[in-house]
Amino acid sequence: MNEKQRKEQAQIKQVSSVDRKSSQDKPLSEKTTEDFAHYFQTTYTPPDIKKARKRGRDKIEVHYDFEIPEEMSKIGKGKKFLIRTYGCQMNEHDTEVMAGILSEMGYESTLDADDADIILLNTCAIRENAENKVFGELGHLKPLKLEKPDLIIGVCGCMSQQESVVNRIMQKHQQVDLIFGTHNIHRLPDLIKEAMFSKVQVVEVWSKEGDIIENLPKVRHGQIKAWVNIMYGCDKFCTYCIVPMTRGKERSRRPEDIIREVRHLAAQGYQEVTLLGQNVNAYGKDFDDIEYRFADLMNDMHKIDIPRVRFTTSHPRDFDDHLIEVLAKGGNLLDHIHLPVQSGSSEILRKMNRKYTRESYLELVAKIKKAIPNVTLTTDIIVGFPNETDEQFEETMTLMEEVGFEAAYTFIYSPREGTPAAVKKDDVPMEVKKERLYRLNDLVNKQSAESMDAYEGKVVKVLVEGESKKDETVLAGYTEKNKVVNFKGPKSIIGKIVDVKITDTKTWSLNGELVEKTAEVSN
Ligand code: 5AD
Ligand code: SF4
Repeated sequence: MNEKQRKEQAQIKQVSSVDRKSSQDKPLSEKTTEDFAHYFQTTYTPPDIKKARKRGRDKIEVHYDFEIPEEMSKIGKGKKFLIRTYGCQMNEHDTEVMAGILSEMGYESTLDADDADIILLNTCAIRENAENKVFGELGHLKPLKLEKPDLIIGVCGCMSQQESVVNRIMQKHQQVDLIFGTHNIHRLPDLIKEAMFSKVQVVEVWSKEGDIIENLPKVRHGQIKAWVNIMYGCDKFCTYCIVPMTRGKERSRRPEDIIREVRHLAAQGYQEVTLLGQNVNAYGKDFDDIEYRFADLMNDMHKIDIPRVRFTTSHPRDFDDHLIEVLAKGGNLLDHIHLPVQSGSSEILRKMNRKYTRESYLELVAKIKKAIPNVTLTTDIIVGFPNETDEQFEETMTLMEEVGFEAAYTFIYSPREGTPAAVKKDDVPMEVKKERLYRLNDLVNKQSAESMDAYEGKVVKVLVEGESKKDETVLAGYTEKNKVVNFKGPKSIIGKIVDVKITDTKTWSLNGELVEKTAEVSN
């Protein structure tokens, strides 16, 4: 269904009395979202994982006509909003868009929940502990809602795309006024209106992805670095991952829209952009009128006058030779590649549906290292995938060393309802999984510390982001390879790229001294 069809479809769906009757006899544990709908008489579109999994041929339209409905354009005047963000950069960026929409409605931002008239939790569904945090936070917000009945509490993001979560919120968290999904962000003004005036729980979650809406407002976090979406969704269907269900099918933004946005950011003085997508290497695969892929986009980024361009996240399967060739040009294309491997065992990779083997991953790494000799590689690893043997885990350990990753995000496998891996029997006890994680983390720390040691006495280029969180007399920034550097210097250099000589190294950061004149520069 595209945006036009959606606009034509009536949003308010009352549940018929027949449906109500049949659901009354069910025990609470068997009730679904549908059964609760009549309690709320609300805008009600529940999530549906089967629909979310389907990949149709519907053409994705691009819209440039977003506007705040007249009656909502001043509704936030004198009021404040707070958005708590959980999870990945995609969520961080969605928060910037929601902040943009709310600001255009007249709301001001606050960091204090007691001060807020609207609180949104932008949630993450990737692992169970991410979900638990949100349910904990909802518990904390309950007394506030009792104190301030007009406060609007909303849950959005990836958790809202799951039927079980929506059911749980409807059953146990009556303090929530609004639940909306990742494809419904542009509907925020209408949904707030509904929540405000109907005073009932509003649920709108489209399971199938929508069109691309280009002109959504954004309030960016800071004026130094910016996120730029290049595509939405994921079609990879790794067997452990919920993202293809929560974010829909792959849809690429048009190159001209991305290039315009990055040029605009450069003109505003931004020093760094990170191109975002669940699998950026699949960029452009969905275009049927032009032959333009991620390598072409990076080539165009190379020509833009912005000092630093990063991208995340890559999938090894789609990382092609053309991209390596373009990245090897260097310049503003930085020589740090985050290349999630997930496991060092070909058998586990097959069970994960990653579509590459240990050997083909190593071949790709060899090609990248040959073309970009100074490259820094970082990765994501899951331990304790169902039935992972000791030998298979050891293969992850040896791969970690063989590639020489300088950092890794490591996770214990977390079963996600609706994914193929979640229904597999698993004979690995949690104690063993934890033990594997500790061992892996020790190795990650060792490799990170070694990579840091190599900087002692070297001069690096640092994009200064601000004061260090721990000590306001110290400035902090990032090198081209994304290493944190702490050093003393005047506040006037915040937002600039400066040379810093490294004097001391730690496992995850570097300490240094500002260099006025640089002889030798290393990244
Ligand atoms: N359990 C544990 N880790 C997961 N990831 C994705 N899904 C799961 C899961 N079910 C990890 C992967 C991915 C990163 C963003 O999160 O390593 O690359
Ligand atoms: Fe999830 Fe795999 Fe898609 Fe990454 S590539 S978002 S891990 S399904």
